[in-house]
Amino acid sequence: MYDFAFLTADKPALYRELADALRSLIADEPDPIGNMANAAALIFDVLPDLNWAGFYRNLDGTLVLGPFQGKPACIRIPFGRGVCGAAAATLRVQRVDDVHAFPGHIACDAASRSELVVPLVSHGALIAVLDLDSPAPARFDAQDEAGCVALAHVLTERLAL
Ligand code: SME
Repeated sequence: MYDFAFLTADKPALYRELADALRSLIADEPDPIGNMANAAALIFDVLPDLNWAGFYRNLDGTLVLGPFQGKPACIRIPFGRGVCGAAAATLRVQRVDDVHAFPGHIACDAASRSELVVPLVSHGALIAVLDLDSPAPARFDAQDEAGCVALAHVLTERLAL
């Protein structure tokens, strides 16, 4: 049962609580889709000011829509296209304060203003990207980036089993 209380106003502590909650949610389950689904639901439920949270999986060199919360989104994204494609092609976090200024940004939800995409990498290979969108400009700061990288590590350890 989902029964976590997030009482912390301090951002790094909130991400530590989130990582603990995620770890316990996925601890006994090997199925990657189920675990990504619960991760998306947890993140969307706990982090404020998001309009989309979810995953694109690397299926043979194309990003394919995975479990998510938010509005329906485009299903396939080539590596190198948009913010998610840039994260996939470079294996680097993309933190975009203004998505309208990002070349090739794919507008799945017209309300999105800022975006954070974290690649999930195991032994140098891309498994998926975690994509968070916000209707607020510059919603994601360095603490969000560090916190989401930590969440991605928790998930990657389990997905790569
Ligand atoms: N905006 C993303 C596409 C995915 S949606 O935001 C869910 C991008 O440019 O990669």
